[in-house]
Amino acid sequence: MALTRYYREKLKDGTLKPDAAQQAVLERLSALSVALNTTPPQKPSLLGKLFRKSALPAPKGLYIHGEVGRGKTMLMDLFHDSVQGWPKRRIHFHAFMQDIHAQRARLGGEDVINRMADELSLSAKLLCLDEMQIVDIADAMIIGRLYEALLARGVVLVTTSNLPLEGLYKDGLNRQLFLPFIARLRDTLDVVSLDSVTDYRLGRVRARETFLHPATAENRVAFNALWKDLTDNAQGEAETLEVLGRKLTVPKAAHGCAAFTFAELCGEALGPADYLAISKAYRTVFISGVAKLKSHQRNESKRFILMIDTFYDAGTRLVALAEAPAEELFPKNQHAFESQRTVSRLKEMQSASWWGAIPVET
Ligand SMILES: Nc1ncnc2c1ncn2[C@@H]1O[C@H](COP(=O)(O)OP(=O)(O)OP(=O)(O)O)[C@@H](O)[C@H]1O
Ligand SMILES: [Mg+2]
Repeated sequence: MALTRYYREKLKDGTLKPDAAQQAVLERLSALSVALNTTPPQKPSLLGKLFRKSALPAPKGLYIHGEVGRGKTMLMDLFHDSVQGWPKRRIHFHAFMQDIHAQRARLGGEDVINRMADELSLSAKLLCLDEMQIVDIADAMIIGRLYEALLARGVVLVTTSNLPLEGLYKDGLNRQLFLPFIARLRDTLDVVSLDSVTDYRLGRVRARETFLHPATAENRVAFNALWKDLTDNAQGEAETLEVLGRKLTVPKAAHGCAAFTFAELCGEALGPADYLAISKAYRTVFISGVAKLKSHQRNESKRFILMIDTFYDAGTRLVALAEAPAEELFPKNQHAFESQRTVSRLKEMQSASWWGAIPVET
C-alpha cells in the first residue's frame, strides 16, 4: 500500500497521533518509495561490471536524524514495508557492522570490500540501517569504503541516527580519516531532521516514579518496566565509549538509554570525563543497586556527587533503583554541603518538569 495512505490510516485509527514534523519526513520517504516502486533496480550490466558503475544513478537515499522517540524508526519501517520489487534489507546498524566484520574475516584476501559489496548488493538493493552511530574505530575505518562500493552497485541507503551528520564519530580516534565519508553521505543522501517536539516514548513515562526505593521486588519490576517503555522493549546491547583514549564499557544501551549498576558507575575509578561522556551519549541513565553509602566509602560518595552534578548540568534523565530515598543515602556529616546539593538535585531530577522539558501530548 502507498506509504502516505498507510500513515493516514494509522492516524485515523488512532495508532499514531498527527505530527507535522513526521509528516514532512513522511513526504520525503514517500517520494523515494514512489521512485523505487516505479523503477526497478538495475541489473548489473557487462559495462557496469567493467566500470563498477550503474548506467543510471539510483535515486538518492535518506539520512534521517533527530532526538530519541521522535518516530524515525517507525517511519523508516513503514517506508521499508512500502517498497516492492527491490531486494531489501532492514537491519540495526550495529548488527550490520557485526555482519560486515564477520564476512570480512570469512572472505579475507585482496579486494575484500568489493567482494563483500558484490554479495551484499545481490541480496539488498535497498538497505535500511537503523540507528547509525559510529563508536568504534574498526567501523569508522571500513564503512566509508564499503559505502562507496555499494553506491557503485546502485544500492540505495536509508538510515536513521540520533546525530546530525557532523556529529558522527565526533571526538573519535583519527577522525580526520572519517571526514570524507561524512562528505560523501552529504553528497549522496538527502539529509532530513525529524525535529518533532514530541518524544512519544516519554509520554508513557511521565508522571511515574523514576527514583524507586526501597529495592523491593515490586520496585525492581517497575524499574524494568520503565526500561521497557523508554526503549520499546529493547534488550539493549553493550556499547563502548572512547574517553580520553580509553575505552569505557556501557553494559547495556538502547534508544538513548544506558543502564549501569551503582558499583559500575561509582565503585570503579571513573572521573569527570567519564560521566560527561555518558551524559553526552545518553539522554537517560538507569542506575540500579544504589545503596546507602557507608562512612568509609569516601571515594564512592565523591564520585556519586560528581556524577549527579554532571548529569544535572547535562539535563540527563535518571531512573534509579535505590535502597533508600535520596535524603538518606549519604552518611551524616560527610561532604555535608555537597551531599545536600546532590540530594536536592536528585529531587529535582525526579520531578515531572525535569522529565517533561519536552512537551508531551497525551
Ligand atoms: N505519531 C505518533 N503517534 C503515536 N506514537 C508514535 C508516533 N510516532 C512514533 N510513535 C511511537 O513512539 C515510539 C518511538 O518511536 P520510534 O522508535 O520510531 O522513535 P525513534 O525516533 O526511532 O527513537 P530512537 O532515536 O530512540 O530510536 C514507538 O513506539 C512509536 O511507535
Ligand atoms: Mg529508532
